[in-house]
Amino acid sequence: MHSFSYRANALLTFSLTILALMCAMASLTDNFNSPSPTATVQILNVNRFQKRSNGDDEVAITLNVSADLQSLFTWNTKQVFVFLAAEYSTPTNTLNQVSLWDRIIPTKEEAKFSVKLKNKYKFIDQGSNLRGRDFNMTLHWHVMPKTGKMFADKLVLPGFRLPESYSYR
Ligand SMILES: *[C@@H]1O[C@H](CO)[C@@H](O)[C@H](O)[C@H]1NC(C)=O
Ligand SMILES: *[C@@H]1O[C@H](CO)[C@@H](O)[C@H](O)[C@H]1NC(C)=O
Repeated sequence: MHSFSYRANALLTFSLTILALMCAMASLTDNFNSPSPTATVQILNVNRFQKRSNGDDEVAITLNVSADLQSLFTWNTKQVFVFLAAEYSTPTNTLNQVSLWDRIIPTKEEAKFSVKLKNKYKFIDQGSNLRGRDFNMTLHWHVMPKTGKMFADKLVLPGFRLPESYSYR
């Protein structure tokens, strides 16, 4: 009896040790997975480009966003939050970041997509700095794991430029 419960206990301890080891290894393999997401963004149309009554510039655009973020998904991924931002510098700020669009991706299947969209959040500059402005599109992602730490990274897509003049179409 004594020996049975001792053995059962030893077996349990052994199983828990193995389980802990497997978790640690799984977590490690998750760290070793080096994701390689790809994305392309095109401006399909500038729908409206104007100076607001308070003097701030605002532009409304239609975009084609294609991305393959499937490599971010592992056994341990709960979901991925992505957002697209316009990043540019002005004489007063070295980095201005304007979030244009975001999405929660719940599954690996949905991590590969090509969508045509209008900016979901307003592209407004606190000033009159957008005419002829060069900017980068950056696709940021936050990977929310089932266990362990969240991690974030981004892709920079350089080489965008806004029109030289306002339009009211
Ligand atoms: C959007 O971009 C993808 C990838 O570059 C391309 O295959 C697709 O034809 C584009 N769609 C539009 C509407 O331009
Ligand atoms: C845009 O991207 C280029 C190339 O990655 C980088 O050198 C530049 O600093 C970026 N501009 C801004 C405003 O972040």
